[in-house]
Amino acid sequence: MTAYKQLIETAHIDLGIPKDYAQKTKLTLQTESTDLCDVGSDIYDRPQKIAQNALKPWSQMKAQAEQDGITINIVSVFRSVNRQIEIIQSKLDKGERIEDILKISAAPGYSEHHTGRALDLTTNDCRVLALEFENTAAFSWLEKNAALFSFHLSYPKNNPHGISYEPWHWAYREN
Ligand code: DAL
Ligand code: ZN
Repeated sequence: MTAYKQLIETAHIDLGIPKDYAQKTKLTLQTESTDLCDVGSDIYDRPQKIAQNALKPWSQMKAQAEQDGITINIVSVFRSVNRQIEIIQSKLDKGERIEDILKISAAPGYSEHHTGRALDLTTNDCRVLALEFENTAAFSWLEKNAALFSFHLSYPKNNPHGISYEPWHWAYREN
């Protein structure tokens, strides 16, 4: 077993993630990117990293949106497996149940953010990572245009992965 898989397996045991997680959610193991580059700062002024191959499509999409009068800003992009472990552990420490946590956070190793190709987005006058993003001009613009730049909504309503609807989470997929 690779060191990466071992890290994930150990974390799953420690966090109490069910053994059949991958099978049940139909989520596939995501590789932690080793090919990251700077993508500027997020709305909290934290420098963010993006996968090298997603930088140009993201920049082009953002620029086109701007030309169309639409603001789309970054909330977060790359997230390591270790950071995902910390996030889930801190929710457990607050008394949340793992079944509930896994509707919001992918299990370590299964978050698209590990790849550096997934972006959580927001726009002006919108609460961050809230369903109201769905009602913004930015979301309507993304629905119409994101696919032109190979960005896709990963967790639509009633998705088969058991992840809550995330109108803000868009991932770049080549092909
Ligand atoms: N919130 C998404 C599912 C993630 O944790 O990657
Ligand atoms: Zn996300």
